[in-house]
Amino acid sequence: MENQPTILVVDDEFGVLQSFKMVLKDEFKVLLAATGTEALDIYNKNAIDLILLDILLPDSNGLDLLEKLKELDSNIEIIMITAVRDIQTAVKAIRLGAYDYIVKPFDVVEVLKIIRRALEKYDLVKKVIYLKNELGRLNVFEEMIGQDIKMKKIYDLISMYSQTDGTVLIQGESGTGKELAARAIHRRSLRKDQPFVVINCAAIPTTLMESEIFGYQKGAFTGAVTTVIGKLEIAQKGTVFLDDIDSLSTAMQSKLLRVIQEKEFEKIGSRKVVQLDVRFIATSNQDLLRLIEKGEFREDLFYRLNVLPLELPALRERISDITLLVNHFLEYYSKNTGKPTKEISQEALQLLLGYDWPGNVRELKNLIERLTTIIKNPVIRYQDVSMLSERKKIKIRGMRLKDAVGEFEKNFITEILEQLNYNVKEAAKVMDVHRNTLINKMKEYGLKS
Ligand SMILES: Nc1ncnc2c1ncn2[C@@H]1O[C@H](COP(=O)(O)OP(=O)(O)OP(=O)(O)O)[C@@H](O)[C@H]1O
Ligand SMILES: [Mg+2]
Repeated sequence: MENQPTILVVDDEFGVLQSFKMVLKDEFKVLLAATGTEALDIYNKNAIDLILLDILLPDSNGLDLLEKLKELDSNIEIIMITAVRDIQTAVKAIRLGAYDYIVKPFDVVEVLKIIRRALEKYDLVKKVIYLKNELGRLNVFEEMIGQDIKMKKIYDLISMYSQTDGTVLIQGESGTGKELAARAIHRRSLRKDQPFVVINCAAIPTTLMESEIFGYQKGAFTGAVTTVIGKLEIAQKGTVFLDDIDSLSTAMQSKLLRVIQEKEFEKIGSRKVVQLDVRFIATSNQDLLRLIEKGEFREDLFYRLNVLPLELPALRERISDITLLVNHFLEYYSKNTGKPTKEISQEALQLLLGYDWPGNVRELKNLIERLTTIIKNPVIRYQDVSMLSERKKIKIRGMRLKDAVGEFEKNFITEILEQLNYNVKEAAKVMDVHRNTLINKMKEYGLKS
């Protein structure tokens, strides 16, 4: 069967190998090795989830091998196999990073229990990384609002698409609800209890994109001091959300195309092929066909992605929903702040209905948030709305180029530092500036170091 965890058993006794195989083969993919050399060879060519390792091997010491394997991938779980007289050594092995040990002759139920627990630990590590990513995304469980016929068609497509496993391409202007729609598809699909992993193609610098997606093996490049789990691996069995796919470099487009086609990938610096079981949902707020004409987007990737298309309407194309959304957000922000729900006057609403909303639902949502925070009156009036939008215009007109560049620089530096856990040395290298230059900039912008 596909997607069973793979276990490598290393023991020099033929009988022991065979009995492990018998016990494990229904639940796991089992690989066998009789010597240390053979074990390393198999390890280098296969994606292994767990290793059962005999302490006494003909050509090497089990403890040395344990250290070597942990060096290669600190995330891999290793369970030692030992005879009663070697228990002392087994305890030492745990100090060196082994998960547990099994004493020969082993008890089948006990062995299965230990193995399952060790594999769960690996899943937990992945889950923690995933949840850290999801934290701070406020709209995770938000519902979609809208009764316009255009939205009803969208709801129909979403429920149809959730019943299948095909790749979805969501297009639409900025702020039309592309991420919301993607999450809705995931939540209604068979993968709903598995991760929904966001890969933000626009926010991650090109230089970091590959490690972010694929992860890397310790020692794959200078600076790769540990093995890192990539987003594809975290998403296993769930949904990969490729946000703003139009921003992807052409090199990454080719790599991604391969992954989507072959449903397999390799960590950077590793020759092991990992089978991938995920559903892809991509978004773009650019006209991809135009980008293809200009030679900026791969046509073959477009057709791979555009299996199930979803085109979200701009807010100005569904004016009847504006009132609904305004009331929804008024209630939403009053709930958030614990204040009574504000009302909106007819004149103020008319103003909102006549606006063309280039930033779509997001712009409307932000405006309502500002209104509920700033306006003291229980009713939002015409002049409140015109004042707030007017102030915004003045602010945009009054922005000096120098300040705009500074703001961009600050955001850019923050982004890269966050990606690299505030490793200033690495960040300076990525940005190709001297370390002191970066430190000075960080001081200038008041960024923590
Ligand atoms: N139909 C809707 N009902 C309620 N809220 C919505 C709706 N559409 C969008 N929103 C809200 O508007 C904001 C923007 O939505 P979302 O992030 O999904 O947009 P997007 O299309 O991905 O935008 P971008 O292209 O800028 O990334 C979010 O806070 C979302 O909750
Ligand atoms: Mg988005």
